[in-house]
Amino acid sequence: MNFNQQINDLDKKHLLRSRKISENAQGVEMVIDGKKVVNFCSNDYLSLANNEQVKEALVQGVKQYGVGSGASHLVSGHSKAHHELEEALADYTGQQRALLFSSGYSANLGVFSALRDDVDWVLQDKLNHASLIDANQLLGLPLRRYLHNDLASLKSKSNKQTGQGLIVTDNVFSMDGDRAKINKIEKIANFSNALLMQDDAHGFGVFEANIPQNSIYMATLGKAAGTMGAFVAGNDDFIDYLVQKSRPYVYTTAISPSLCCATLKSLELIKSNEQKTKLLANIDYFRNFAKSLGLNFENSESAIQPMIIGESDKALELSKKLFEVGFYVSAIRPPTVPPNTARLRFTLCANHSFEQIESLLTRVANVMA
Ligand SMILES: Cc1ncc(COP(=O)(O)O)c(C=O)c1O
Repeated sequence: MNFNQQINDLDKKHLLRSRKISENAQGVEMVIDGKKVVNFCSNDYLSLANNEQVKEALVQGVKQYGVGSGASHLVSGHSKAHHELEEALADYTGQQRALLFSSGYSANLGVFSALRDDVDWVLQDKLNHASLIDANQLLGLPLRRYLHNDLASLKSKSNKQTGQGLIVTDNVFSMDGDRAKINKIEKIANFSNALLMQDDAHGFGVFEANIPQNSIYMATLGKAAGTMGAFVAGNDDFIDYLVQKSRPYVYTTAISPSLCCATLKSLELIKSNEQKTKLLANIDYFRNFAKSLGLNFENSESAIQPMIIGESDKALELSKKLFEVGFYVSAIRPPTVPPNTARLRFTLCANHSFEQIESLLTRVANVMA
């Protein structure tokens, strides 16, 4: 195998991915590759990743439980901290139970792997997250997708299926920032004998969870909660079923108990709504100011505000120019997004100031001119 050739090919197509190195905590102001920048590409939507109370909870967690969990949940790795966090997440989402996973990626694989013998067909939104697409392999069923956020397309495809189905959607779409119409999708799912599964990675903590009865809910903790890990929430029977049948749950080491202590504190802060109010005000301010400058953003009410550029090289160049003038905004290119829809993906956080948003957008207007 010629790895070097493949790398060179990607580079020629402007699709080579690389990493920048940060030197301080995740947040609005960061030092990246040695340069001070204002960060507009973080998923730390509520600015909790470097929150003093969350950090203190983590430290206390380390003092009580040490660092590693030492084993999988079903062996000796399930601590009181894990258990309390699961109970708190169930309570917060209004579900009977919640089950922790080490990441959103593994939670999605975990749900699909458990459903392997019980589902006859699956339909996914065309723009669902990569982890849901990869998880489809574990079902051993073909990947069938309906047009993005298109209920007519979902309806016509689901009408053609027989047996037990699974309809899967992101709640907030990770590269577009728009939201699925959960209630309408649920009606179609009920009508076509399908279970609804939603991935709320980008909505959890920002929007109130909308979880229809007997549906599957997955959310991540590495974004608005500012820590890491993920959970699936549902009724008692479904969670017990996952514990028995979800291979990515059974065959992996539990996350550090101290992270659960930190996440419990995050959850308290999420419930207080203080950071969320700041974030929602920032989203509003960003959208209005962009409009006043004539900048063309996608229609999104979430913290994810994409500007479609088209060509990958152009998106990369704009991202580079913004970095040079002190703003970190990532260029998202295929295959993460469909061909010819490379974009600048701006993400907003609670701790951004209106001044930072204004000066970012003014710069964007300049580099686009
Ligand atoms: C919609 C969506 N689902 C799942 C994941 C995976 O979550 P994690 O980063 O916790 O693995 C992500 C992003 O990371 C995501 O954007």
